[in-house]
Amino acid sequence: MPCRVAILGASGYTGSELLRCLLLRRSVADDIEIVALTSSRRAGCQLSEVLPQFSGAGLPALSLWEDVDWGAVDVAFCALPHGTTQEVIAKLWRHEGLKIVDLSADFRLHDLAMYERWYGKAHATPALQPHACYGLSEWNKDRIAKSRLIANPGCYATACQLSLLPVADRVELGTVFMSAASGVSGAGRSLREDLLYCEMNENFRPYATGGHRHIAEIEQGLRWRLKELDKLEADGKVSSVSFVPHLLPLDRGIMVTLSAKMLGGESVDGLRRVMTEAYRGSVFVEVLGEGEVPSLKRVRGTNNCLLAVCEDRRDGWVVIFSAIDNLMKGAGGQALQNMNIVLGMEEETGFGGGALLP
Ligand SMILES: NC(=O)c1ccc[n+]([C@@H]2O[C@H](COP(=O)([O-])OP(=O)(O)OC[C@H]3O[C@@H](n4cnc5c(N)ncnc54)[C@H](OP(=O)(O)O)[C@@H]3O)[C@@H](O)[C@H]2O)c1
Repeated sequence: MPCRVAILGASGYTGSELLRCLLLRRSVADDIEIVALTSSRRAGCQLSEVLPQFSGAGLPALSLWEDVDWGAVDVAFCALPHGTTQEVIAKLWRHEGLKIVDLSADFRLHDLAMYERWYGKAHATPALQPHACYGLSEWNKDRIAKSRLIANPGCYATACQLSLLPVADRVELGTVFMSAASGVSGAGRSLREDLLYCEMNENFRPYATGGHRHIAEIEQGLRWRLKELDKLEADGKVSSVSFVPHLLPLDRGIMVTLSAKMLGGESVDGLRRVMTEAYRGSVFVEVLGEGEVPSLKRVRGTNNCLLAVCEDRRDGWVVIFSAIDNLMKGAGGQALQNMNIVLGMEEETGFGGGALLP
């Protein structure tokens, strides 16, 4: 029997990207059935009225999530705004057979005080948080495979952690600076004056310079990694890593440039070897060779993360680049990868075809 899948928030950017992936998958593997697609404002519309690219795909009409028969769903992807999601998932949780991959930030932070600090209000369903597993696929596969509730990481947090975690014990954390730039789809599909074409086109600007929410996820990941390496006590500088996001006048893509001072005895070639080793066997993360740098066009429409470890002109420093598509490895693609892990399938099932060019 095929796996019955629902997407909450299918009319949004990440929900519709996930749907595109699921349709590609359906064309090669007859193992899923898309049984429900939800929207809030457009419930009752045909999906093709809202997203004409899906015309003729034989999909269910958009409905309210409250009207879905959750007893007849195996996997729910929740692509809703944070805050809304907690209460929705609390209701879905009663359906014991249901696995949930949440793309919002609501279950990513294990420390509820951190959630309150960064998201400005107390968590509405604290009892559910301990059931959530952080879904950075390459670093948490075993736990993801056993979980019912997977908190898909943030887009910036994915690109940053994939570059930082392998070298966390080889650089001076107090010197880590991550400058990240994202395409505009990172802000979702809803209307915002500061994201209008005339504000964005030919423009490039930083934002949230004092601290972006994703820093909490990055610190959580770093703390977990140092603990695993038994080095957390030795280096209490987790909260000193710096991260500044920027908006790029592009539809999609994230590029992170990480700069850090290496610990004594480390070298750029050594860090590249460590990074390559960390992702040996990974289907989606590739560490480029010496002299190569990633570009956003190489990851556009793919679930790949391209990493490059490069020389800095300052002796003893390293520069690491990390490129992903925010809607894919940063959202819908990683969500599908996590579904594959949960269902015990090959992670790459349903992906392929390479980057979109142009
Ligand atoms: N965009 C990214 O690159 C990215 C990456 C990683 C994670 N995320 C996270 O993924 C989630 C979805 O992001 P997005 O970019 O796809 O946002 P989006 O384009 O704004 O889509 C949001 C979706 O949620 C629905 N929705 C809004 N309010 C709702 C409510 N009160 N009840 C039920 N449904 C509601 C919307 O339906 P209607 O508009 O049709 O009513 C729409 O389908 C967010 O939590 C975001 O932080 C986004």
